[in-house]
Amino acid sequence: MKASAPGKIILFGEHAVVYGRPALAVPVTQVHADVEVLDSARHGIWIHAPIIDLHAELTSLPSGHPIASVILKLFSTLGISSPLGRGQGEGLEINISSTIPVASGLGSGAAVSVALIRALSSFLFHSLSDDEVNLLAYEIEKLHHGRPSGIDNTVITYNMPVYFIKGQPIETFKTGKPFTIVIGDTGIPALTKESVGDVRRLWLGNTNHFENIFNEIAQIVLIARRSIESGKPELLGELMDHNHSLLQELTVSSPELDQLVIAARQAGALGAKLSGGGRGGNMIALTDQAKAESVAGALISAGAKRTIITEIS
Ligand code: MEV
Repeated sequence: MKASAPGKIILFGEHAVVYGRPALAVPVTQVHADVEVLDSARHGIWIHAPIIDLHAELTSLPSGHPIASVILKLFSTLGISSPLGRGQGEGLEINISSTIPVASGLGSGAAVSVALIRALSSFLFHSLSDDEVNLLAYEIEKLHHGRPSGIDNTVITYNMPVYFIKGQPIETFKTGKPFTIVIGDTGIPALTKESVGDVRRLWLGNTNHFENIFNEIAQIVLIARRSIESGKPELLGELMDHNHSLLQELTVSSPELDQLVIAARQAGALGAKLSGGGRGGNMIALTDQAKAESVAGALISAGAKRTIITEIS
């Protein structure tokens, strides 16, 4: 049984979304996590995830291990104590691969959770609805990310653009005209949990000031959504620049991210910002389609470890 889940980028609204403001995110299908579950002649549940150098039997892993926790949570949700003996063999082999760089802001953890939940639940004859997969993936995000808004698991589970407000029913948005985004990876791994925790400490220390920043970000998200839906994506450039400066005020940018943002603008991008938790990971730039390759080249010259050109339509 196989399942796959895409990566994601946040176009606007990261961090503020943790505090109930809206955010816009889209799937990135050029990168994905893939999971295959097979019967095995050997006893036990064997997990192979070469991306994190993991080859282990489930019971040898601590229950809080990111992958073990997905499997254990799924078993308890399905009311299964041991899935062994359900297939033809003695045990299971679970092969996990991913082209989504880890801790990069592209949702690698949520994508692995979603693909794993889908592949394993189908293998166990308990196929889950998207809503059930999303709920379970959110539980896992909560275990590992402190106070996640749920935007990553949502955009990845439903594999469509989302206008997301924490705790509200999922809402999608339409693009009036396609537009091109170049993603640039600093190559610096950064844990979302840490940047979210730091923003929380700042917010606790000076709530009014940070609430104002979140309100400003919320305004940007609303205008951005209107621009996308009404077929005026070129207006997003300025909004990205503004959103990036507010993320700098939240202290979640970094010299490397700023350097890539500046390089993208100098190469002719209409605007650029960090995307996701920040501190490292990825940034995004809005460009005319014709300039996408040269913006990507400029990002590599400015230190990006990899780039992805993606069309939002
Ligand atoms: C991470 O992709 C986005 C953040 O807003 C955290 C979250 O929403 O849980 C930084």
